[in-house]
Amino acid sequence: MAESKQEFDVLVLPGDGIGLEVTEEAVKVLKATGQLHGLTFEMKTALVGGAAIDAEGAPVSEETIKLAADADAVLMGAVGGTKWDDLPTDKRPEKGLLGMRKALDLFANLRPVQVFGPLAAASTLKPEVVKGIDLLVIRELVSDLYFGEPRGIRDTPNGREGYNTMRYLDWEVERVARKAFEIAMGRRRKVTSVDKANVLETSALWREVVIEVARDFPEVELDHMYVDNCSMQLIRNPAQFDVIVTGNIFGDILSDEASMLTGSIGMLPSASLGEGAALYEPVHGSAPDIAGQGKANPLAMILSAAMMLEISCQAPEAAASIRDAVNRVLEEGYRTGDIAEEGSSVVSCSEMGDLVTERLSGQG
Ligand code: IPM
Ligand code: MG
Repeated sequence: MAESKQEFDVLVLPGDGIGLEVTEEAVKVLKATGQLHGLTFEMKTALVGGAAIDAEGAPVSEETIKLAADADAVLMGAVGGTKWDDLPTDKRPEKGLLGMRKALDLFANLRPVQVFGPLAAASTLKPEVVKGIDLLVIRELVSDLYFGEPRGIRDTPNGREGYNTMRYLDWEVERVARKAFEIAMGRRRKVTSVDKANVLETSALWREVVIEVARDFPEVELDHMYVDNCSMQLIRNPAQFDVIVTGNIFGDILSDEASMLTGSIGMLPSASLGEGAALYEPVHGSAPDIAGQGKANPLAMILSAAMMLEISCQAPEAAASIRDAVNRVLEEGYRTGDIAEEGSSVVSCSEMGDLVTERLSGQG
């Protein structure tokens, strides 16, 4: 059997705000995990978002995109901040993230929602509602309203008009649907496709294509749900879901909602996959209000690094050792402010990173 690869080129893009603090902790955990599991990471760092606007004049440079394309994986913090809030949409820090997703054609965004046992009480929902949730939102990431043309703000005889285009090509739906079914085969074999087919043509096509793809996966149960109903079902009975597949804008909204099942958006990791390099980032943003104060929760970023180990490095034991370490730290009662409860020991972002590092094991 061929030796599997043990050395990986990782591009680290801390970004802005708490992105800097949380990526530092993820890198710390990653290096320590590598040592225990015989993996080495060749890390390069570059700028994205507001930091790149300030230093390089654009939210992501061509050079950074090239570094990302050449890497095995990209670890990204978060972008944005009040300083850049007045810039027009196409010059904002968020454009760096969107540009990176588009340039690497990262069409499938995986956002797993799992409730760590010790955090069941941290959710705003009742513990019996969130208990045992294990769902995966797969969000299409490079099309839809986010990238549709035409778009803009224009003068019309009736007033100024802001407009965007919701659109999907059949093959764009097909490839993300196929990914969802493939992944569901390794899980509980249930796919819920979320759309708004009662109103939107984009969704009517989406649904048609998903049904076609489903024919290749007869063992997977498929159902369809309108996005408004899905948003209700997510808080009514989240345990009904296994894999949710949906478009870019619906997935953006539903994944924030789903994150709260876990107690905090600070717990939710993500992986964005295409044909080449993959990008791993927390679902949360740059949280300028708490940036630089050591208050951020690094666990979403650390869990994103675990996803990287599993998917890009094919090192599931190493990934499991990070998840186990996170669980252990939570069991011992350590919390960052966002998930703190009565009686828990509140720790800083870097203390949380240290605690996870100390509890890593070579076993997985
Ligand atoms: C996300 C974020 C981004 C998005 C923003 C920062 C552009 O909300 O990854 O969910 O809308 O995709
Ligand atoms: Mg979002």
